[in-house]
Amino acid sequence: MEHGEGNWLVDSPRFSGHLVQSISRRGGLKYIFLTHEDDVADCNRFAEKFSAKRIIHEADSHAVPQAEIKLRGYEPVSFGKDFLLIPTPGHTKGHAVLLYGEKFLFTGDHLAWSRKRRSLVAFREYCWYSWKELVRSMERLLEFKFEWVLPGHGYRARVSREEFESFVKSLSS
Ligand SMILES: [Fe+2]
Repeated sequence: MEHGEGNWLVDSPRFSGHLVQSISRRGGLKYIFLTHEDDVADCNRFAEKFSAKRIIHEADSHAVPQAEIKLRGYEPVSFGKDFLLIPTPGHTKGHAVLLYGEKFLFTGDHLAWSRKRRSLVAFREYCWYSWKELVRSMERLLEFKFEWVLPGHGYRARVSREEFESFVKSLSS
C-alpha cells in the first residue's frame, strides 16, 4: 500500500525479482505488517532489502522473532493518522488486522467474503486458537468504521455496516 509517509506491505508474499522491482519503483517499504504467524513467507528478505520494520503481535512472534515491533494485549495501536492495528485473536492467538483510513480493513485470515454464500465468512474449520475468541474479536470490530474487507484468503468485498452487524450477530447466535 502506497503512502506519503512510507509504504506498507501487508503479509508477505514470496520474494521475487519482479515484485522487488515493482516495490522499489514505488519507493520501497517502511513497514511489513504480518497479520499472523501463518503468512510470513519471505518477510525477512523484504525487510532486509528495504530496511523495513516488521510488525507482528507478540503472541505470534515466534514465527518472526526478529520483528522490530511487537503488538501486545488487545488495545489498537495507531501509526500516523491513517493506520490502526487491531489485535483480533481467534484464528491464531496473535492475529491482528489493519484498518487504513476508516475505509480498508486488511483482515488476514480473520474475516473474508464468500462468493458461494454471498456473505461475509469466518473460517471455523481453520481456527487454530479459539473460535470463542474469534467471535469476541469480531464483536470488538463493531467499534470501527470500514468499507472494504481485504482478506489474506477468500474474496475481498465492499461491505455495508448493516451487513457486518448482521454477520456478527449470526456468529454469536
Ligand atoms: Fe492463517
